[in-house]
Amino acid sequence: MSEQDDAKKLAGEASVEHIEDGMTIGLGSGSTVYWMIRKIGECVQDGLEVKGIPSSRQTKEWANKFGVPLTDFAHVQKLDIAIDGADEVDPQWNLIKGGGGALVREKIIAAAARKFVVIVDESKLVTRLGAFKLPVEILPFGWETTAGRIAELGGETVLRLVGDDVFVSDNGNYIVDCRFGGIDDPETLHQQLKQLTGVVETGLFTEMVDEVIAGYKDQAKPVSK
Ligand code: A5P
Repeated sequence: MSEQDDAKKLAGEASVEHIEDGMTIGLGSGSTVYWMIRKIGECVQDGLEVKGIPSSRQTKEWANKFGVPLTDFAHVQKLDIAIDGADEVDPQWNLIKGGGGALVREKIIAAAARKFVVIVDESKLVTRLGAFKLPVEILPFGWETTAGRIAELGGETVLRLVGDDVFVSDNGNYIVDCRFGGIDDPETLHQQLKQLTGVVETGLFTEMVDEVIAGYKDQAKPVSK
């Protein structure tokens, strides 16, 4: 494994210390979350009783593989905790998420959680958001005009593809990856984007995070604001 993978594993596993018997857990998406799910699976085998709600098909598959029991929002209103990765974390704990295309479900899960813990390797800690292109999920109908109005806000937009095909999210939508340069005011940009008809959700997560755990090559530790 690379040093970055070691760091992801350490951060993912460390987050499981926040999980207690009887909890309902929002399960994020991505390669750091993989290690968290694997660790929860080990704890379940040792007798831990928890239920998770997955934020993506991939996460659901991993939860099934590692024996993590699942539930859904038909049975649970609030989650005790949500744990998820991020593409960038700024010093105020604003996030860019959605590199894996699961941002809408990830945000619904984070919003439903009493506590939202973010797990990242140290490379994700930035002084200002925006080097990573901001994913914005939009409706397929009229995506060209929606992308055009995002561009009018100052973002250079690229429709996300997989090979030659358009990437389609778990919700049946498209994603445009947007370069806005450095993002000085994430909340305002998020609000501006959300007001555009055709925009489903943005990958900007502001004022949602309760704790950030960063993984380094040989340890994981909480990040202070
Ligand atoms: C998924 O849509 C994303 O928000 C991920 O949480 C994010 O891309 C981090 O992924 P890694 O843990 O794989 O870096």
